[in-house]
Amino acid sequence: MIRARRLSKDYGAFRAVKDLSFEVHPGEVVGFLGPNGAGKSTTLRMLSGFLGATSGEAWVNGFSVIDEGDKARESLGYMPESSPLYPEMRVREYLAFRAELKRVPRAKRASNLRRSLEAANLVEVADVLIGQLSKGFRQRVGIADALVANPPLLILDEPTAGLDPNQIREVRALIEELSEEHTILLSTHILSEVEAVCSRAVVIARGELVADGTLEELRALQKPKGVSVRVRGGEAEVKQTLRQVSGVKKVSVERYDQSSVRASVAFNDPELGEVSVEQCVAALCEAKLGVLEVQPQSGLEHVFAKLTEASMESRS
Ligand SMILES: Nc1ncnc2c1ncn2[C@@H]1O[C@H](COP(=O)(O)OP(=O)(O)OP(=O)(O)O)[C@@H](O)[C@H]1O
Ligand SMILES: [Mg+2]
Repeated sequence: MIRARRLSKDYGAFRAVKDLSFEVHPGEVVGFLGPNGAGKSTTLRMLSGFLGATSGEAWVNGFSVIDEGDKARESLGYMPESSPLYPEMRVREYLAFRAELKRVPRAKRASNLRRSLEAANLVEVADVLIGQLSKGFRQRVGIADALVANPPLLILDEPTAGLDPNQIREVRALIEELSEEHTILLSTHILSEVEAVCSRAVVIARGELVADGTLEELRALQKPKGVSVRVRGGEAEVKQTLRQVSGVKKVSVERYDQSSVRASVAFNDPELGEVSVEQCVAALCEAKLGVLEVQPQSGLEHVFAKLTEASMESRS
């Protein structure tokens, strides 16, 4: 559905995207993940045909974004980072205007419009001025805009940026619904977003690819380097118990509430991390200290930090 081959983009002397290659297959929801300034928006703009690449090539739905730009553009719906919405237009009016701009055939406009309003859960606000909508609803208008020509591929640039937790949940649910009928590439700088909605992640940092794989593959890259446990007991006894576990490098304990403490344990050797997690829990149980929560420090968050670090080190 998307094939990027050695895409690069220079802004003057600054190379924002470097030799980036990746693919998105039909039916996938792929997270395009990277910290601020990584080059996500630049890449998505190149794929959507809004920005020319300095070098490299990309194909969307089999069409070259360079040589067959119009056809490539027609097969995708793009929601930019900040949608240029018109506050003085009503939602329905705006989407009709966009459908016309996107050259949706006249006979199809009404049905496409209805479908995009329904898909983005905007039916109730269809006649409200865009300027009067909350940020979450405006974000949905951006998604409806991407949908209005009913393209097989959606490219969404940070669809949940700036939303409150409820709105984030709603937009994520919407993405999940849309994924039944559309292939989706969405950018984010938040790992939990990828875990919530994506089947695969393409990770970039400083314009370069640092990882590409399923969530399981990304997790497997990093074994636990520690564990955080909440335990019923006193600070001193918990600390004492955990320090005696083999493979434990460092323990810090602080009170959590009246009856429990939270301990952060660092391991010597992440290769043995999973064993160390087990041993910590076993030692606490043996000491008759109730284990209330166990969180190995091996989530994607850590993988992400690690990968980004590695890519920065390789540059210096
Ligand atoms: N028009 C431009 N001219 C010069 N530099 C630019 C331009 N647009 C982006 N950049 C730079 O290119 C780099 C990549 O920017 P880009 O917007 O693609 O990052 P991003 O991953 O989308 O970041 P964010 O998470 O903040 O949206 C940044 O260092 C940015 O400052
Ligand atoms: Mg961006």
